[in-house]
Amino acid sequence: MSKQLTFLMCSPRGDKSASHTIGSYVVSLFEEKNIVVKTFEVYKTLRKQERIEEMIKSIDECDIILLSSPLYIDQAPYMTIKLMDIISETFKQSKIQNKTRHLFAISNAGFLEYYHNNLALKIYEQFAIQNELIWAGGLPIGAAGTYATYPIPESLKMLAQLPEDDHRQEIYHKPTKILDSVIKTSVDHLSKGEIVPKDELQKLEFIPMPLEAYVEGGKKGWLEAAEELGTADKLRDKPYER
Ligand SMILES: Cc1cc2nc3c(=O)[nH]c(=O)nc-3n(C[C@H](O)[C@H](O)[C@H](O)COP(=O)(O)O)c2cc1C
Repeated sequence: MSKQLTFLMCSPRGDKSASHTIGSYVVSLFEEKNIVVKTFEVYKTLRKQERIEEMIKSIDECDIILLSSPLYIDQAPYMTIKLMDIISETFKQSKIQNKTRHLFAISNAGFLEYYHNNLALKIYEQFAIQNELIWAGGLPIGAAGTYATYPIPESLKMLAQLPEDDHRQEIYHKPTKILDSVIKTSVDHLSKGEIVPKDELQKLEFIPMPLEAYVEGGKKGWLEAAEELGTADKLRDKPYER
């Protein structure tokens, strides 16, 4: 019988989110290995009891849970915590059969520092331990917004056309290639029922560009957005002081 995977997509930003884009890419690689995937958009799922029950049924039947969540205030967001509470409660009431299940997580941070995700990943690990899931490891993604805008396969194709000495080779192409390779190795291990080796996940522990360049880039984006919206002269307004 085919293995099954439950994909828990935890971003309220839906298709535009890094949680969706990176998670869906991971899912597509599992599907290539004939693993059957059921996807749940957590923000929609938790609104309806019927959908919650469908999600619990999928978790009950699955071999792998893939949780992909944004990082909010250095933490798991409220909805991701609520999701874990609901699942834990169901385990406590023995409504989920005993079975070998792996939990693999993706934590998506907006800032460059991948290690801001460490606390959230530790929480997901504890969630696994408390519910007798096998913690298979997690991807600590920094500057996750990049992958929301440019999904990994498309991005790799685009970046491969750049000249060798283009500065984007170092800050975009190299990190995307590393992430792609870590994802593929993770999927290989998980589909064989194995956890992902720590030294593989540690390959994501680097900062892809100088912090000043990130701040400068952010500032440029902010000013361009203000220009577009016709609010460039209002950026220093303090309406709350009136
Ligand atoms: C309320 C809120 C809090 C956030 N807090 C952090 C944070 O503490 N650290 C960080 O790196 N990014 C933070 N971000 C940025 C998100 O983590 C980032 O945009 C990420 O790509 C979101 O994932 P998503 O695209 O899957 O929604 C925050 C975003 C929001 C909306």
